[in-house]
Amino acid sequence: MAISAEHIPVMLDRVLVHLDPRPGRSAAGEPRVYLDATTGLGGHAEAILVQSAPDGRLFGLDRDPAALEAARARLVRFGDRCRLVHGDFAELPALLAAEGLTAVDGLLADLGLSSAQLADADRGFSLQLNGPLDMRMDPTRPGTAGDLLDTLGEERLAEALGRLGGERYGLRVARVLLRRRRDGRLRTTVDLREAVHAALGRGRAGRIDAATRTFQALRMLVNREEEALRELLAAFPRLLRPGGRAVLLSFHSGEDRLVKQAFRELARDTSPVPMRLLTKHPERPGRSELRANPRARSVKLRAVERREEAA
Ligand SMILES: C[S@@+](CC[C@H](N)C(=O)[O-])C[C@H]1O[C@@H](n2cnc3c(N)ncnc32)[C@H](O)[C@@H]1O
Repeated sequence: MAISAEHIPVMLDRVLVHLDPRPGRSAAGEPRVYLDATTGLGGHAEAILVQSAPDGRLFGLDRDPAALEAARARLVRFGDRCRLVHGDFAELPALLAAEGLTAVDGLLADLGLSSAQLADADRGFSLQLNGPLDMRMDPTRPGTAGDLLDTLGEERLAEALGRLGGERYGLRVARVLLRRRRDGRLRTTVDLREAVHAALGRGRAGRIDAATRTFQALRMLVNREEEALRELLAAFPRLLRPGGRAVLLSFHSGEDRLVKQAFRELARDTSPVPMRLLTKHPERPGRSELRANPRARSVKLRAVERREEAA
């Protein structure tokens, strides 16, 4: 069965090499199950299902109901080998338990936003398109970017802009944002971009827009992305079967640092769940992928394998 070409997932070949999805039964005698914690448009999920045919199963998670709808349409042909569930990977153990699963043979997390989320002006993620200050990946939960700007103090906002967005002038930006919000002049994504430009200038032509860092930091705050990743990294080792593998794709240096630290700890002899590093250094996409998909620019791939139990 071929993989459809409509959306090429990031570093697909390397994800498949490391995750190594296979048909057949695991040592426990059960059909192999692979978990896609960030199903998105279902690109990686589809490839996992193709490679583990005819009996490998996929459990796909996403906190965005619209993403799951798109993935459902794409993956319908796999029938009951594929189960898609709405949820946050920060709550992985409970979500798996609700499906009667205690462990999986592989886990993939392709962090961040999907191209569909970015392209939908109404979601408020894009600094190119005008939309509401929303930025929730899961619109069924409260707390938009606008709500955050109504409640965060200047210091806290400045700290987040620096830590999550890499914004060197966080305090200057935070002051302008909060003043404009109070004055009713900060309601949309275009207002947000203009407020950052008012604080910092536009940045030099040809460089990334100066507002990019603020958009990224607000999005990560709204969705508690750092907290969710910490939860995932704490929970996944015990959810992998011996010999099972985890592959993480991060697009943000702070997230990659968390993944690197967690994997290094797990690879120590003293780790309660011993793992083997499959990537000593992060892997990066090749030139042809970068030409075809600019979103892959900042991605780093890391992978680990849970060691088989000692005999
Ligand atoms: C980069 S996209 C994944 C693309 C996917 N691998 C593909 O091939 O189409 C990331 C997805 O992860 C979802 N996501 C981000 N954080 C999440 C979390 N904490 N729990 C569940 N889903 C999350 C987003 O809603 C988005 O749909």
